[in-house]
Amino acid sequence: MMLTNVLLSNPCISGYKDRSLSANFNIFFNTDDNPYFSIVKLNFVTSKLIEMSVNKEVKRITTHTLQAMKDHGEKIAMLTAYDYSMATILGDAGLDVLLVGDSASNVMAGHETTLPITLDQMIYHAQSVVRGAGRAFVVVDLPFGTYQGNSKEALNSAIRIMKESGAHGVKLEGGQEIVESVQRIITAGIPVMGHLGLTPQSIYKFGTYTVRAKDELEAEKLKSDALVLQEAGCFSIVLEKIPAKLAKEVSESLHIPTIGIGAGPHCDGQVLVVNDMIGLTKGFKPRFLRQYLDLYEGIKGAAESYIKDVKGNDFPNEKEQY
Ligand code: KIV
Repeated sequence: MMLTNVLLSNPCISGYKDRSLSANFNIFFNTDDNPYFSIVKLNFVTSKLIEMSVNKEVKRITTHTLQAMKDHGEKIAMLTAYDYSMATILGDAGLDVLLVGDSASNVMAGHETTLPITLDQMIYHAQSVVRGAGRAFVVVDLPFGTYQGNSKEALNSAIRIMKESGAHGVKLEGGQEIVESVQRIITAGIPVMGHLGLTPQSIYKFGTYTVRAKDELEAEKLKSDALVLQEAGCFSIVLEKIPAKLAKEVSESLHIPTIGIGAGPHCDGQVLVVNDMIGLTKGFKPRFLRQYLDLYEGIKGAAESYIKDVKGNDFPNEKEQY
């Protein structure tokens, strides 16, 4: 009898990307055995492992996965998405969370603010994203006017999103003033993500899109709102455009994960509006934005080439016809 110790490492085995776990197997080889069977046994163990990791790989991210990521110090990567094609690319890339943000009102519909987008329009975007999202957790913004001041209406709005789109959670802007709505939605079994700091649905109250909570009073209110939302049962909170030092303090004081946008590196995850991040939105370059592509110029150049080819009778050519 021979004892062989095999150490197998698999980067996907923990159920979410980039966390490595190792499996340590003791495999007994009976020297009397036909060596062929030993190899078969070893192959069986390895293929079972691969099968396990593949199953884990396709397993959907849940609020529990996100909590485990905070607990293990793994950052959460979130981007917005508004349609099927983009959601498919982002899902395949391995995003943890896709946010069907009401920023669709700006970047998809061309409105100046997020206020005009309706619940029906958010549901349409969410349905498309859910179809492409793969294993990503899909959160949908409750749009302006569908949850403030009336917790029953808030619950009905959240239920419509969950039932009609198949999304996995909703996001609401605000703290203490909307906590009744948050509690009612969570009581119905719907995961809620909070949103504090710059809350664009209140833009006419703020007057500008500048950094929030720079003064002591607003910072104290934000810290207390974060605790109120956690206490109410939110699974995560977005912190938008607040000083990095404050975001650090809030992130360390909460056990649930924070997701920052313009809130520095100490949040438990980061989110960007995908159109900004890939350079589709012309001329929008706030300090917090890292632009990974310049698709505006890329697409414009492609469109210009197409126009030239069509007008110059160069498209379609012989190979591009039947
Ligand atoms: O609507 C949105 O895109 C958002 C993000 C900016 C967090 O709420």
